[in-house]
Amino acid sequence: MKTLIAYYSLTGHTQQLADEVAALLNADVEVLESSIKRGFFGYVRLAFDMLRKKEPTLRPIVHEPGEYDMVILAGPIWSGRMCSPTRVYAMQHNEQFTKTALLCTSRSGLPSYAEQCATAMIEAAGIHPVATLGLSMKQLEVDHSEAIAQFVAALTDDEAHA
Ligand SMILES: Cc1cc2nc3c(=O)[nH]c(=O)nc-3n(C[C@H](O)[C@H](O)[C@H](O)COP(=O)(O)O)c2cc1C
Repeated sequence: MKTLIAYYSLTGHTQQLADEVAALLNADVEVLESSIKRGFFGYVRLAFDMLRKKEPTLRPIVHEPGEYDMVILAGPIWSGRMCSPTRVYAMQHNEQFTKTALLCTSRSGLPSYAEQCATAMIEAAGIHPVATLGLSMKQLEVDHSEAIAQFVAALTDDEAHA
């Protein structure tokens, strides 16, 4: 299964999770870069943009999503939903996706986030992920190999039944 992981990460947590999953699946990685700046003023600007529902601009991508059997979309939870750069990427490329799955990280790790993310992505980009995994920042610091193994198994099971 030729797999691409497209992720946005402001502070490195989603990057960690995406890199771990990419290593297991031997996946290519698309790092989403946006107009959002890091640091204090970047956060203030981000808060304003979120209030105004202004979507960020993404830098040009390197990998062609249509060339992959599976595109895993990953990002942090912002205000209870998938971060805007990952949502924008999904909306821009949804017609090129064959199958998708979702990874998200959050501070609280509410179990409902993964499901909320999936619902929001269905509404925003019309995509139906075959598997989702949401982990908190704390879970990322301890052994989370079982959670990743279950996520990877869900992808490969889906492939086997295709
Ligand atoms: C603008 C913003 C909004 C956030 N909203 C939430 C939230 O609603 N719930 C939550 O649990 N964490 C929230 N967080 C925390 C991030 O989801 C969490 O730190 C995530 O792991 C960061 O991932 P990253 O390091 O890949 O950027 C928010 C962070 C930011 C910057």
